[in-house]
Amino acid sequence: MTQDELKQKVAQAAIEYVVPGTIIGVGTGSTANFFIDELAKIKGSIKGTVASSEATAERLKGHGIPVFDLNSIDEMSVYIDGADEADPGLNLVKGGGGALTREKIVLAVADKFVCIADDSKKVDVLGKFPLPVEVIPMARSYVAREIVKRFGGEPVLREDFTTDNGNVILDIHGLEITDPVAMETELNSIVGVVTNGLFAARNADIFLCGTADGVETITAK
Ligand code: A5P
Repeated sequence: MTQDELKQKVAQAAIEYVVPGTIIGVGTGSTANFFIDELAKIKGSIKGTVASSEATAERLKGHGIPVFDLNSIDEMSVYIDGADEADPGLNLVKGGGGALTREKIVLAVADKFVCIADDSKKVDVLGKFPLPVEVIPMARSYVAREIVKRFGGEPVLREDFTTDNGNVILDIHGLEITDPVAMETELNSIVGVVTNGLFAARNADIFLCGTADGVETITAK
């Protein structure tokens, strides 16, 4: 099975977690796109969605799926999104597509987080995938120096990229993240950091992992 076929399988499996009559949070990226295409088939059964990026909003609207402003809703049954890495505790690295901040905000409102990804995203220890950090542009050099001082690693400015919020991304290479909650908290304490791509303080509740043998449903260890 190709990677795209695995992504499609997990996207189909995620439909089971869509609660009829409610608002669903929708993530960003290629796996989330497969999910949006599946959601379109049952769009009449949900109240609508909240999008975690402009790109996702556009794709949802393209299917005729209602997209609400997060400020106009106060309840969300589930948030469904991909990931760049997932460890056995279902702590994630996200933000490869640069949508980490809005993803984290939408997730904050959701009752449940269902992560969907193919098995290439499963790791024992997070950090092989460079950790994205969204930074206010004027703070990028300061933040990069602080990151090296506190954690080591090599922060690299993502070239020719601006987030939906008008900020830049530093991708930190060469980390071995053994305490993701602590690192998520400390990174956020650096002045100028908007947010970082560790989803550990609020991790996934369920990981639908696409494998050659089918979709594995994983809960945190
Ligand atoms: C978007 O900013 C990311 O958090 C995505 O969720 C992540 O990069 C996974 O994307 P793919 O589904 O394209 O691998």
